[in-house]
Amino acid sequence: MTKRENVAYTVPNLKDYSAKALEKVSRELTSALEQESNAVNTEAEWKTLRDRWMARKNGILTQINEMWLKAAPKDAKREVGQKVNALKLIVENRVAKAYANVDDLSEVYGHSTSRGSVEEVRRAARKKLETQGSLDITLPGIRRPLGAEHPIIKTMNEIVSVFRNLGYSMEEGPEIETDYYNFEALNFPPNHPARDTQDTLFIANQESKPLRDRLLLRTHTSPVQIRTMEKMQPPVRVVCPGKVHRNDAPDATHSPIFHQVEGLAVDTNITFCDLKGTLDHAMKALFGSSVKTRFYPSFFPFTEPSADVQISCIFCGGKGYRDGGRCPNCKASGWIELLGCGMVDPNVYGFVNYDSKKVSGFAFGMGVERIAILKYGVDDIQLFFQGDVRFLEQFA
Ligand code: PHE
Repeated sequence: MTKRENVAYTVPNLKDYSAKALEKVSRELTSALEQESNAVNTEAEWKTLRDRWMARKNGILTQINEMWLKAAPKDAKREVGQKVNALKLIVENRVAKAYANVDDLSEVYGHSTSRGSVEEVRRAARKKLETQGSLDITLPGIRRPLGAEHPIIKTMNEIVSVFRNLGYSMEEGPEIETDYYNFEALNFPPNHPARDTQDTLFIANQESKPLRDRLLLRTHTSPVQIRTMEKMQPPVRVVCPGKVHRNDAPDATHSPIFHQVEGLAVDTNITFCDLKGTLDHAMKALFGSSVKTRFYPSFFPFTEPSADVQISCIFCGGKGYRDGGRCPNCKASGWIELLGCGMVDPNVYGFVNYDSKKVSGFAFGMGVERIAILKYGVDDIQLFFQGDVRFLEQFA
């Protein structure tokens, strides 16, 4: 026959709900708890103990809730409830404390128990468990540093808002474009030498597709002009910010990935004067009202005529010299080249079913990094992409 003390404790049904009877079953329960907790030596044994007493499904706590409290007659419920609640706290506490008996205390103490004697480790573990039981509201909270807008996004938003104030809306397009949108519809015919100025990465293994459908990383935001004109009729006034890619080796002024903001205005009777006035205003809004602009003949396949826009050097005030020497920022010319623009080439309207006899418009495109470099006096474009917090937090 098995000895009495070796028989595992089982929760008895209650027939008698008197205070005395409750006291008796509670004592039996806590003494079983004490015995079983003392027997814990390993992590596995502790887990068995925890589950036997606290498992939600059929742990002893759940059982006393069912068998004692729920089964109790109405007039005994209050007293039984209080008892069951008290037992719950006792069990939870005792099971938590039993963890201090586990020989391998690595989980509580840290990574290894090799530091100090087992006794020391136990003491540390007990201390930790004691403090875990209470909440110290005087401790300072965990501070999480706030993030800030990246200087490129910040500059891009600033540019967009200048045009938003002029009544422009915003459009975005895909970064992986087809040859058609990136080149062909912008009047870069296949094999035209103008394509060489915007070399990029093509997605591999597309030789079986017609050229116009092949995918590439867009080299500029101008394809969004085409996408916009395909879906809306004039009047159109949009700015299109986004990321672009070129086959350029990285150095202080080049990056194979950078950002542009494109602009497009198409309506009846839009002239080069509107283009000049708009960009002159935008440059003054971005760099200060004393900045002057000048338009220089240039070439883009999708604009005719085309121009590069220069602003008077913001470092030397357009003089070309400062601090008793040549201004290094404008190479002593007094001007800094900033963006490309022009009147939309009538050939482009042919691709989007606009009537080039009825409408006219202008487009422009500017590099966001270049503008940020000038605005913030940054001397290396690579800093924007390295993710160094010491650099980035200066823009917060
Ligand atoms: N897309 C041109 C570029 O990346 C810039 C541009 C845009 C020029 C719009 C004229 C009009 O170089």
